[in-house]
Amino acid sequence: MFVRETEWWKYSIIYQIYPLTFADGNGDGIGDLQGIIQRLDYLNDGKDNSDSSLGIDAIWLSPINQSPMLDNGYDVSDYYDICNTFGTLDDFQRLLEQAHRRNIKVILDLVINHTSSEHPWFLESRSSRYNPKSDWYLWHDPAPDGGVPNNWLSYFGGTGWTYDDKRQQYYYHAFNSHQPDLNWHNPEVRAAIYDVIRYWLDLGVDGFRLDASSVYSQDKYFRNNPVKFEGREDKYKDQYHIYDQNLPENHEIIREIRSIIDEYDNRVLSGETFIDNRLYDSLIFYGVNNDELHLPFTFEFPLSPWYPGYLQREIEKKELLTPEGSWQVYFLNNHDLPRHLSRWSECSICFDTFAIAKASATILLTVRGTPILYYGEELGMVNHENIPLEQLRDQVAMSCLDEECLPSRDGTRTPMQWDDSPQAGFSFGKDVTPWLPVHDNYQYVNVETELSEQDSILNFYRELIQLRKNSKALQKGTWKPLIYYPYEHLAYLRETEQETVLVAINFSYEKNFDLDRAIPKQYWQVLLSTNLSVGDIIPLPQLLQPFEISILQFTPDHAVP
Ligand code: NOJ
Repeated sequence: MFVRETEWWKYSIIYQIYPLTFADGNGDGIGDLQGIIQRLDYLNDGKDNSDSSLGIDAIWLSPINQSPMLDNGYDVSDYYDICNTFGTLDDFQRLLEQAHRRNIKVILDLVINHTSSEHPWFLESRSSRYNPKSDWYLWHDPAPDGGVPNNWLSYFGGTGWTYDDKRQQYYYHAFNSHQPDLNWHNPEVRAAIYDVIRYWLDLGVDGFRLDASSVYSQDKYFRNNPVKFEGREDKYKDQYHIYDQNLPENHEIIREIRSIIDEYDNRVLSGETFIDNRLYDSLIFYGVNNDELHLPFTFEFPLSPWYPGYLQREIEKKELLTPEGSWQVYFLNNHDLPRHLSRWSECSICFDTFAIAKASATILLTVRGTPILYYGEELGMVNHENIPLEQLRDQVAMSCLDEECLPSRDGTRTPMQWDDSPQAGFSFGKDVTPWLPVHDNYQYVNVETELSEQDSILNFYRELIQLRKNSKALQKGTWKPLIYYPYEHLAYLRETEQETVLVAINFSYEKNFDLDRAIPKQYWQVLLSTNLSVGDIIPLPQLLQPFEISILQFTPDHAVP
């Protein structure tokens, strides 16, 4: 039976699915809900010590609502329906039921900063200046010279304003011109969106990831953003976004959404809080009374280099800044970023991809906070760098002509690699072209092959996940670094009153293990290691072998009486 417990999201491992490319259940070459249902056992078959499943606790689905797919679902045209590409509402209910049966919670991506320009609300709003929804979006008269109303830009490049012939006004869009921003100052808009939220909660979803949750509200006087350098205001990063990002009203909206979430038992509210990667500003999204997001997604690891000191500093910052009673969340990847092994294997002084995969998985799954995995990272999937132009799908990136535009995000969204059959087992349709091309390495980087290889990246993730599940220290213990300024290795403790776990990772070709803080020299039991025998009780190692990863538990009971 599906057992709900409060704050499950603190001790869960979340797995992000990009539905278009996870699994194709009907053989048309595009991922769908049926495909996800068929693959649920891989994610968690509900059995203890399963020999084939990953063991995650929750899935976050990138958007599945009705959409013209200009931004692959991040452009919703009907909040109450499932996109035909993915299936029907019945399919979704089956997915929910089947997931819950396996103790997998389901988190939906909620795209409410903007709608698609094909949403009936926008069609009505743009039909005239005087209609019931005329004020549901951010319309503005042209400047006296006929140009854009102010200097606000689109995150995807170029101006944030598009002129509409019919209304003879501009509308604002923080993203693409086909993604008009809703006017959150309008109470009717808020009420309409809150109905949407209740609808999905009533259906039984376990929570949401709020898309673009830092840009809901804009200055109601439409003031120009100050620019960082005189005369340079046409690049997003050259402005101070005080009038179009992270406004106080933004937090009022999130608080209102949270109060709806709190009407229901045990739901989670997470959100994308990307603000020039300023962790300090992102933390405000917990709310002054812990009444906004449970899990604000901040981007420490995605924007860090592969370097122990840097990674540790990011963890330290987060440990220092996370408010009392709040909880951290960490991830290496998502659908907008190049995959981490592609980002980090560029580092010439570092080790190979295989070693980075294991070391980064260890950090992600042993720091204090909820880990989010992005589909395929557990296999060591890397970015597809050579997608032919005619097969690219990231239309919003392609439509931007500015030289500083968003690069195509397709390389990180290629089909999940299930086995070594054609299409990597993603689609059984023989003659179909998959939504995006499969990466060439699928013959050895795939679920089936890696399950059968003891030393694979997938089996390493599975071991780490099991370990985390069985250790209160790894789930909720304190985090304490043992080296002040690590250059070549990381070492930290995770501790509860009953349990002490040591995590040690050597990033280097050299043997080393210098610690700045003293810890017991005896009675460490090996829980997981690339070099030591699991189960052995050993003295504290003097040296770590090149690239060694070891997780040890202090077992004073084994002391000689
Ligand atoms: C953030 C999402 O992660 C990204 O994929 C999308 O393009 C924008 N928001 C617009 O919704």
